[in-house]
Amino acid sequence: MNLLDRAEARRRDALAELNPDEQAAFGQYFTPVQAARIIAGLARLPVGESASILDPGAGTGILTAALVQRLREARPDLRIAIVAVELDTSLHAALRETLDDMESLGGITTQLLDADFLAWALETEQRFDLVIQNPPYAKLRTGSEAQVRLRASGIDVPNVYAAFMALGLRLLRHGGQQVAITPRSWMNGTYYSAFRREFVQAAGIDSMHTFESRSKVFGDTGVLQEAIVVSATVGQTPHTVVVHTSHDHREDATSRTVSYEDVVTADFIHVPATEKDAEAVAWMTSHATHTLAELGLTVSTGRVVDFRSRDMLHHESVPGGYPMVSATHVRGGVTRHPVGAKKPEWFHTDPITAAKLLVPGGTYVLIKRFSAKEERRRVVAAVWQSSRPAAFDNKLNFIHQGGQGLDEQVARGLAVYLNSSRLDDYFRVFSGHTQVNATDLRQMRFPSLAQLRELAHADTTDQASIDAATEAALGSVKSAA
Ligand SMILES: C[S@@+](CC[C@H](N)C(=O)[O-])C[C@H]1O[C@@H](n2cnc3c(N)ncnc32)[C@H](O)[C@@H]1O
Repeated sequence: MNLLDRAEARRRDALAELNPDEQAAFGQYFTPVQAARIIAGLARLPVGESASILDPGAGTGILTAALVQRLREARPDLRIAIVAVELDTSLHAALRETLDDMESLGGITTQLLDADFLAWALETEQRFDLVIQNPPYAKLRTGSEAQVRLRASGIDVPNVYAAFMALGLRLLRHGGQQVAITPRSWMNGTYYSAFRREFVQAAGIDSMHTFESRSKVFGDTGVLQEAIVVSATVGQTPHTVVVHTSHDHREDATSRTVSYEDVVTADFIHVPATEKDAEAVAWMTSHATHTLAELGLTVSTGRVVDFRSRDMLHHESVPGGYPMVSATHVRGGVTRHPVGAKKPEWFHTDPITAAKLLVPGGTYVLIKRFSAKEERRRVVAAVWQSSRPAAFDNKLNFIHQGGQGLDEQVARGLAVYLNSSRLDDYFRVFSGHTQVNATDLRQMRFPSLAQLRELAHADTTDQASIDAATEAALGSVKSAA
């Protein structure tokens, strides 16, 4: 057995001993050995005579063990200094054994710090060449001491794992590298936008490793989050990013080199895992340049939550009632109402409540928030048009103009664009999940108003017509609003 095999045996033993409550509280989802090898594999081989390595939230030390194993094979002469920080003292015996095991190889010094990494990192003056980590996943409570201290030092994050990443970067020397396995959630969405901006300003992402199967990476630890490994170097912006993809951590990866701009944008980080993904991102980056806000439009989530509004919902049309429009009515590129659905299709309430929940008569674009199993597409949109006010279900997003309907041609063009294969291909790269959130739609790019009007004439019930119109309107022209 080599160093890594022995570390893996300790990891398994420690995992079996974990108390489930503590496991959740400390975010103790240890990295399986195959994933540890992948993570360590993204570290660049040091060029100098020595390297200092930090492992925050070290657990039983599997990540550093994988790294040291690799460095020993490739650079047997390298002197290595390791700092492993671990808050849970019940893991220290196993961690100490792994660190001692490394020291016995010679040329390696180790330090086990019994500390809260967040507090330690904010104080220490030590700096490192390489940070390797699988940080704990735990929400950072609003008003908690940790959050207050982090904010005071300019780190504004919703989850502990992102605080570990931000601090990891700060503890690197210029040109130092961090390799971290984390959930994908920091790569888009508004919660992480401040963190993301700072991250990509401080460091250049040079490679990533993504796993097609979300459940298998942490198979023996019960984690179902979609994990990604990201390597970033402080103070450098590369021209390209190498994206490795494997089905799970056991299979060989495929790798592709993608231009930096197609991965790191001002608002989000794309993960083009396949050739098709890379093409989808490149197309979108060069053909759609406007946010909805820049087009003067807003996207909101439908205001009627059915279980909170039961007394307002009706199966039959009632005098003084309004259409209750839900996801059932958006199908095949059009909206049909009523359809004799099982769910109530009419809405009626007092004028004060109605003023809060209804939208005025007009033209709107509806987008399903959840795609049905039988739908192959993630993004499903259609135009709603009525001279009377209507109620939109909370499982729909809708595009409007300052709370009113929008120009009919623009609305029709938006429905065509949102239903296009180009958009759907892009959405799969952009978003790690199947849900279509209003925040996603706020961040995504759209064609100009003139191009949307041009798209309006396509038949939204026919995918070929949608796709041909999208190519014709956007294919070669770069837009101006
Ligand atoms: C996701 S586990 C990863 C462990 C190990 N690096 C691995 O890859 O198997 C996160 C580790 O961070 C530790 N931890 C949680 N909060 C911490 C904190 N504030 N400071 C230091 N360690 C912490 C947990 O006890 C746990 O061992």
